[in-house]
Order: sequence, then C-alpha cells, then structure tokens
Amino acid sequence: MANIRSVTEEELAAQKAIMDLLAEENAALPEAPLAWVDTYGCQQNEADSEVIRGMLREMGYGFTESEAEADLIVVNTCAVRGHAELRALGNVGALSHTKRSKPGQKIALCGCMVQQEHMRRKIKESFPYVDLVFGTHELWRFPELVQRMLKPHKGRIFEARQIDGERVEGLPVLRSGSVRAWLPIMSGCNNFCSYCIVPYVRGRERSRRPEAILAEARQLIEAGYKEIYLLGQNVNSYGRDLGGEEDFPWLLRKIDRMEGEFVIRFMTSHPKDATERLFDTMAACPKVERHIHLPFQSGSDRVLKAMNRGYTGEKYREKVAYARSLMPDIAVTSDVIVGFPGETDEEFEDTLRLTEELRFDMLFTFLYSPRVGTPAAEMPDPFTKEQKQARFDRLLAAQNAVSAEMQAAHVGKTYRILIDGEGDKPGRLTARSSHNRLIHLEGDRSLIGSFRNARITDSTTWSLSAVLTGEEER
Ligand code: SAH
Ligand code: SF4
Ligand code: F3S
Repeated sequence: MANIRSVTEEELAAQKAIMDLLAEENAALPEAPLAWVDTYGCQQNEADSEVIRGMLREMGYGFTESEAEADLIVVNTCAVRGHAELRALGNVGALSHTKRSKPGQKIALCGCMVQQEHMRRKIKESFPYVDLVFGTHELWRFPELVQRMLKPHKGRIFEARQIDGERVEGLPVLRSGSVRAWLPIMSGCNNFCSYCIVPYVRGRERSRRPEAILAEARQLIEAGYKEIYLLGQNVNSYGRDLGGEEDFPWLLRKIDRMEGEFVIRFMTSHPKDATERLFDTMAACPKVERHIHLPFQSGSDRVLKAMNRGYTGEKYREKVAYARSLMPDIAVTSDVIVGFPGETDEEFEDTLRLTEELRFDMLFTFLYSPRVGTPAAEMPDPFTKEQKQARFDRLLAAQNAVSAEMQAAHVGKTYRILIDGEGDKPGRLTARSSHNRLIHLEGDRSLIGSFRNARITDSTTWSLSAVLTGEEER
C-alpha cells in the first residue's frame, strides 16, 4: 500500500505566511525582483511551473524571459530521456556566465531530473553556482525554500524527500495562456513500465478530489478559458485510489455538462485502462474533442511484455477499432519506442506493421534511452546504436508519409476551430481543430479565444492552412 498523506491546512498557512512576508520585503525594494522560470518536459511540468509562478507572484516577484535580467532563475527539469537531461544541464551550464555578470542572482533547479540521487550528486559536484535544488515532492514548500535561500548564507540547499507522495490542494497558479488551461487531475504513476523513470521521480498515483477538480474547471470556464486540458500520466486510472464511484468517464461527463462554450481534452491514456466505457463517454460528450493520445510503445507482444505494458498488439488494435467504430473521425496519436533492449529486427517489423495498419494521425517516435534504476536498464542490449538508428529512420519515414496523407485528407473540409494564438507573422493566427490539428490562418488577433468555422485549404506533414467561412461542420 502506498503511504500517502495530505498536506495540512497549517502547513499551507505557514507557507502562505512566508509568501506574505517576502512580498512585504520585496515591496519595500525600489523595483520588484524578477524571476525567470524555464520548463522542460511534459504538460505536467508546465502545470507545475504555473504553480511556481503563482507562488512567485504572491512573493512579490515580477517576471522576465531574459536570464541576464533575472534575479531568480528556476529551471524545472525532466528526466524521461537522456536528451532532456542533457538539454537542461547544458542550459544550466551556460548560466554560470549569466550569474557572473549579475551578482546576487540566484539559481534554483527542480523537477523530475533532480529527484534522482545521482543527478543531485552531479549538481553538487559540477554546478557549484546552483543555490537551491528541490525535488518534485517539495513543490508546495517552495516559499520556505526561497526564504532560506535568500538568508545570508549557510550553504546550498538540497531537498528531495524520497516519499510515495502527498496530496496538496489550493496552491496559487499563474497560468501562461488565456485560451487553453492545464488542469492536473492526478499526479504520480503506478505502472512501472520497465523503461520509464516517471514512477520513481513522481511517486505513487494520487487522484485529486473530484470536488476540487470540478470547482477548478468551473472557475476556468468562468474566467473565459475555452479549452480545459485534463492532465495525468494515466488519466484512465483516475479515482482508483479514492475508493469511491468516481472514475475518469464520470469526470468527463461532469465537466461536459457544465454551462459554457468550451471544449475538453485529456492526456495521457494508457491502453490497458482505456475501456469501452471511456470511448462510449467520449462519443456521448459533445464538448470532449475527437482526439485520443494512446501510446502503444511497441507492436511486438514479447517486447510489450518486457516493457510491462499489460496489453498485446491485438488488444491495442481492438481498442483503436472500437474507438473508430463509434467516432469515425477521431484522431488517434501515439508514442513508440525504438530499440528497447533486445528488440530484434523482426520485433521492430511488428511495430512498423502496426503503424502502417492503424495509420496514426501523428506518431511521436523515441529512441530507447536507458534510465538509471529502471529494470530495462539492466536488460541485455546487443544491438548497436547504428542498427537502432536505422530502424528509427525507417519508422519515421513511413510515419511521415502516413501523416502527410492523413493531413491531406482534411483539405476541402470545413471545421469548427478554436483560435488559440498569434502566428509567426503579423496578421497570422494559429488554431486547433477538434482532431487537435495545428492550423494556420489569417485573421485579426481579436479572434483569439473564439470558435470559428474554417475551410482547410492546404496541408503539410505538420500543419494545415485554413480560411474562415460562415458554414458549420464538426
Ligand atoms: N504516461 C505516459 C508517458 C509519459 S512519457 C504514457 O504512459 O503514455 C512520454 C513518452 O516518452 C512515453 O510514451 C514513451 O514513449 C517515451 N519514453 C518514456 N521513457 C522512455 C525511455 N526510457 N526511452 C525512450 N522513450 C521513453
Ligand atoms: Fe511511464 Fe508507463 Fe507510467 Fe507512462 S504509464 S508514466 S510510460 S511508467
Ligand atoms: Fe519528464 Fe517528469 Fe514529465 S520526467 S515527461 S517532466 S513527468
């Protein structure tokens, strides 16, 4: 049984008192200190960074995008693949120069990467100018850690409890967008896929209380957000740890029934827990968009078993077929890992065959990256980097051809789109269709945040072009 407790009101009040105190001190300065929060990794990390910004705002900080100008830099890291860690470390390396030209600048590292002991050791040894390092379970204690960091110095701070996790509600959030809002419904993961570091760095699955989620959704809709993005490592197991009736389809229905003009998306779905009830609910809920991200990871049953995924290629095909039978226009996107330890050429062919058969709208292809402490990192891995890269390139080429065809099939259709931001040039906008396709179009920025009808005029592998029309179709 996981050992999970709730952070108490008193503990949160103590953090709030520290935020108020720092806000008072900062208000007395000639200018508000500036913070820069740099985020790597998934939407869960984006959502955590919004909490960090929310707390910083309550502590009286302003914000900047320039590391040279910042009084406080927070780097929120990811550990999912070696590449993500190297990128973050590279950028932290560059900060030693910034810090030299801005005396008094403070640097903090947090997130999944620093939840790993060997990474904290590396930072201790090789990045002496980092002032504060805090793990994923310390997020709510950020005010206290900032206060300690700012005190005349007793040394660098490293805090990362190795715990199953805590439930926390009511932290401040400063959202980056005005159209799309991340709404975490759970944290952690219990699946222990053999290649994956997430369960080790994020702790056990904790579902948020349904009332808290529904209240936040209502608030977001009232504040004018148009897309509510429900987040979790495996949203399909929502509620299992709460012991009540509430599960993910229940939550979808509840939010779907709320008054207002908005849409609902969610991520990520684990195939083993994607039930017919989930797809029935999606089909029955008009505000739930026609898209599911359903990572399959491999088309080989032997590899899937070694990955500890809990389904076979056949089971996966059945789920996609069921979803498409209910919602013929649903977009299905997926993740796949190439070069899992011991994956043979034949097993890779099974993966290739599955993608060619199922025709994903979009596929995120990853080269296997060994993660310290995971079972897969200990498995024999006789294939060379070059062999794996060759497989990767083949899969990518095959998928790019499929993606281009899937995209081209949208040309000439008229969709209801949500205009969500400014494009790369003045007078250009970006939008998303129900299928979560990225759309470029011309229009005035006053349209941002509105649903419009648009006819798709052109496509590339990655995006669509459209013109606004008066007609309606979904
Ligand atoms: N919880 C999500 C995945 C989060 S990680 C899920 O189960 O679907 C996002 C993706 O990164 C995974 O789907 C997987 O394809 C990839 N990934 C995770 N660990 C990896 C590793 N060690 N090497 C390569 N890719 C990995
Ligand atoms: Fe990682 Fe698997 Fe959990 Fe996804 S479900 S976060 S891949 S362990
Ligand atoms: Fe990375 Fe942590 Fe997300 S490892 S993918 S930031 S949960």
